Amino acid sequence: MARHRIAWMPGDGIGRDVIEAARLALDALGVDYEAVPVDVGWECWCREGDPLPPRSFTALRELPVALFGAITSKPAAEAEAELAPELRGRGIVYRSPIVRLRQEFRLAVNLRPAKAIPGNPLNARDDVDILVLRENTEDLYAGLEYHPLPDGLRTVLEEHPRWAPFAELAAEDVALSLRVTTRAGCTRILRAAFDLARQRGRRRVTVVEKPNVLRETSGMMVRIARELAAEYPELELREANVDAFAMDLVRAPQDQDVVVSSNLFGDIVSDLAAQLVGGLGCAPSANLGADFALFEPIHGSAPDLAGTGRANPIGMLASTVMLLEHVGESEAAQRLERAVHETVAAGEILTPDMGGTHTTSRVAAEVARRIG
Ligand code: NAI
Ligand code: MG
Repeated sequence: MARHRIAWMPGDGIGRDVIEAARLALDALGVDYEAVPVDVGWECWCREGDPLPPRSFTALRELPVALFGAITSKPAAEAEAELAPELRGRGIVYRSPIVRLRQEFRLAVNLRPAKAIPGNPLNARDDVDILVLRENTEDLYAGLEYHPLPDGLRTVLEEHPRWAPFAELAAEDVALSLRVTTRAGCTRILRAAFDLARQRGRRRVTVVEKPNVLRETSGMMVRIARELAAEYPELELREANVDAFAMDLVRAPQDQDVVVSSNLFGDIVSDLAAQLVGGLGCAPSANLGADFALFEPIHGSAPDLAGTGRANPIGMLASTVMLLEHVGESEAAQRLERAVHETVAAGEILTPDMGGTHTTSRVAAEVARRIG
């Protein structure tokens, strides 16, 4: 197999600590890869006024996959204050690099497996194995947010007696977000869910929405799910309301299979699922587009842990397993997954969040040792 070129994006804080664990694992696996450093994060913001400079975008366009640590974001006033003096007062605005990456590279599918590592003391149960797919670009997170209320939207509110009371308020007293759902967006995420379920030999796809209230947006998602399901006769399609689903997920997480949802509901459901199998330190994710994919643990830069050696590298290692599968290195992926599972099952060399006393690099070394 040709050498894999991987955009290497440590970012900030513990992102730098945990990505070293991935490097150790890839080296131990003997995978033929090149880690191409790509700048991202707070230092870039402070120095250059852009946490994801244009040269990083250029570099990423030439690369098929990225491994991403985590980045730090801060509120606008703090961000401005930490800019290099010559950049301050120029109206430069901080924008989250991860959101920009999702948009620019059309990483519409956010895949968040919640698979228990047997013996993890943080598991709710040992037999949970859920694949959550979250739509990544539309819905309430598309950024159609208004405050004060613009005149054009006031006109819309005036059109309907149910909305008219909102139209009578002062513009400053109303904030409005629009939920946008498209046929293309729904089809893309649902197709990804059905295809993944088929590839992995899963039995059921549950579409999690709220069509009884959000008749048009959630309704569109559910209607398209029914259309597509006809092409996958071996899979069962289930429809769940997001509120009831949250309870079901906690009550019987072992009964869930492939779960697909829109951006906001998927964000919440995937965090809930992650917590059932170890939480922030353990959970991996993939952001998948047609010709670029980015793999990252779900946690942030954890400034409280940066440089202390207390960051759990398992979320990053599990993200590396996903990357290896994506680039066709299934055997290496399985070996790494097995080494992580053995390390957890042995229960000795673990970080403090899992009840251990060891450092990020010590856990990484143990996983590398078990790779052989
Ligand atoms: P966080 O995920 O960084 O930390 C939340 C809590 O979980 C902290 O107590 C932290 O110590 C703990 N934690 C996180 N990762 C851990 C690990 N690997 N092992 C053990 N414990 C771990 O979220 P928080 O504190 O809300 O945000 C910190 C910074 O990270 C902020 O600047 C935020 O904007 C950014 N962030 C970045 C994300 C990304 O890069 N995708 C995602 C979430 C937050
Ligand atoms: Mg989240």
